[in-house]
Amino acid sequence: MIINKTTDSRLATFDQENFTFGNTFSDHMVVCEYQDGKWGDIKLMPYGPLPFTPAMMGVHYGQAAFEGMKAYKDADGEVFLFRPERNFHRMNKSAVRLAMPEVTEEMFIGGLKALVDIDRGWVPHGEGFSLYLRPVLFATEEALQARISTKFMFAIMATPARAYYPKPIAVKVSDHFSRSANGGVGYAKAAGNYGGSFYPTLLAQEEGYDQVIWTDDCEHKYFEESGTMNVMVRINDTIITPKTSEKILDGVTRDSILKVAEHLGVKTEVRDLAVEEVYNAHKNGELKEAFGVGTAVVMSMFKEIGYKEERLALDVLPEDESVAQQLKKFLTDLQANQGEDPFGWRVKVEKGYADQFLK
Ligand code: COI
Repeated sequence: MIINKTTDSRLATFDQENFTFGNTFSDHMVVCEYQDGKWGDIKLMPYGPLPFTPAMMGVHYGQAAFEGMKAYKDADGEVFLFRPERNFHRMNKSAVRLAMPEVTEEMFIGGLKALVDIDRGWVPHGEGFSLYLRPVLFATEEALQARISTKFMFAIMATPARAYYPKPIAVKVSDHFSRSANGGVGYAKAAGNYGGSFYPTLLAQEEGYDQVIWTDDCEHKYFEESGTMNVMVRINDTIITPKTSEKILDGVTRDSILKVAEHLGVKTEVRDLAVEEVYNAHKNGELKEAFGVGTAVVMSMFKEIGYKEERLALDVLPEDESVAQQLKKFLTDLQANQGEDPFGWRVKVEKGYADQFLK
């Protein structure tokens, strides 16, 4: 790894009390370029613009995928990653599906650790605060033939984060648009999955909703995801979530919430979840909670589900009555080293990790 530290840190001008997620970037970024069939040096350098031409293939044909993860700071100022190997493996699943070269562990995990170590001052401390990390892989060859690019870039950037959707949201069950299809790229964190979701979301927003609940593309009978999150419901005492498939992203938060639930003795079911089942559970008073889970948001409670012409109102329970909120609390305490970690998920970023690369 080649390290070029900034001489002009912006940290002193960063207002840790007042910022918007995703608009401010930390001092450094990781960049690694692929050409002639191999990855070049891993570079940790000052964050900033890079030169590209509008003929860059990734922009035209969508060979691009990203990851989302976070670093957390505890009360003693120690900094932790959370299950980074899951994101590493998922990045490479996305890479394979989009015919891009896989990244190495040194690039992904080593790059994350070096970036977070050098920019540890940018990891905010406090409830709901973290440094969001965004690894991205995209085609950079300057060419317009519709084929696999021969050049790629892998980069990691970091942006301070706070609770993403702090308020309960209204979601609309899609009866027309789809996020993914059998044989498609739904399980990958492909950039196009997000780009394709914006228009249906805009239409839902015009009807007063925040997000779309994505349903299967054949019949729109089964829940798949919600907005950019995995979806879960609590019917009576059981948390139910659709099983992952080639259409559904294998979310790290989804998996973690399920494991925390099992650890705490909450019943879980991972299976097909029919819209009709959720509708009937609501009518019978058995739908206790419904929510989305994802890295950026952690958990977003639903206050309303729009289905056909109806708007089903949901009570948003106070924290001590909400099973979902209790699971979230266990998870976020674990992530921020404020609670036990029975799973060994926290990965400490040692102070001085990046120094080993300094000449
Ligand atoms: C994440 O939770 O990391 C996401 O994918 C949301 C992101 C698109 C902001």
